[in-house]
Amino acid sequence: MNEASSSSTGFTADFRGRNPVATARLAQATTMRIGGPATIVTLEDRSDLPELLARPHRWLGKGANLLVGDAGVGEPVVRLGQAFSAIDVGVPVGGRALVRAGAGADLAELISACVKAGLAGPEGLAGVPATVGGALRMNAGTSTCWMLDWVARVEVVLPGEEQPRWLERSALPAAYRNCGLPQGTLFLGCELLLVQDDPEKLRATGARLKKAKATSQPLALPSAGCVFKNPRPDLPAGKLIDELGLKNERVGGAVVSAVHANFIVNEQRTATCADVAALIRRIRERAWRERGVVLEMEVETWECPADLKAHPRDVRVEVGV
Ligand code: EPU
Repeated sequence: MNEASSSSTGFTADFRGRNPVATARLAQATTMRIGGPATIVTLEDRSDLPELLARPHRWLGKGANLLVGDAGVGEPVVRLGQAFSAIDVGVPVGGRALVRAGAGADLAELISACVKAGLAGPEGLAGVPATVGGALRMNAGTSTCWMLDWVARVEVVLPGEEQPRWLERSALPAAYRNCGLPQGTLFLGCELLLVQDDPEKLRATGARLKKAKATSQPLALPSAGCVFKNPRPDLPAGKLIDELGLKNERVGGAVVSAVHANFIVNEQRTATCADVAALIRRIRERAWRERGVVLEMEVETWECPADLKAHPRDVRVEVGV
């Protein structure tokens, strides 16, 4: 990463003194290892939120569920730094304890702090790659649980506002892979209310879930996790794409995983966003034409072709790409 020149960022010197600003290819900041350049800001000082929020910007967590265009993005891309990454485990009262986590913390650290303290719930998310903020924003989860299952309150800045506020969980109309708050909401942290349980049992559950993922998902190769939402609980996208015979389908450096068909892997780290987009079009077109299913993107897209979210009957698929 190079230090960005002040002229390219427009941030005041005071701001840059407190919050590191650099330029980098987003390929370095995403698990898919794809994405052009951007100005990356690491926010360390809460008092600088207003200067940041006054201009267009994008929030980045662990970059684990994100496809970025090859030309990069124009707006500053903001990550939450150490100042937003604390995890505090409260003293149990009546068999329950409150855990407070900053949105910049790694979800894996939150899970291990809860397991160590014998507090049940988050171990169900073992192996989900995310920051706490990213997991809240996406309501990340597995087939049996979601991040927002154990959350009592979240601290957010809503779009158009400058000041953080706490929202009760009941104010979030959360659903499958959706926190229910508007696009552009910034998550600063959360409180979880957890029930005590045997730490050894929780550790064993987490280890079992991680092992199951390692055998059923292509974790050794760069990817953005599951590309599509499951169209219905009884119709997993991976099973559908597999049945369409699309495993190992390839465009340029992008390949439909032979391990799990809802993963597109950047096998040789040479794939471009254009390759992935062409493969996505091809999968969506086949699912629509042969099964009448509209596959919706689970992966977030930044500066990617708009037709990835259009109805597949309106999308032109290039033949023989
Ligand atoms: N299947 C196939 N072929 C495949 C892949 C899956 O036949 O290529 C079948 C499996 O055998 C199984 C069914 O499809 O019978 C469901 O597969 P799996 O158990 O892997 O679950 P999933 O619905 O594909 C969901 C989440 C994953 C999460 C797993 C495990 C979505 C879109 N995906 O996958 O989340 O890790 O459950 O809990 O909801 C992610 O969000 O990025 C992600 C990977």
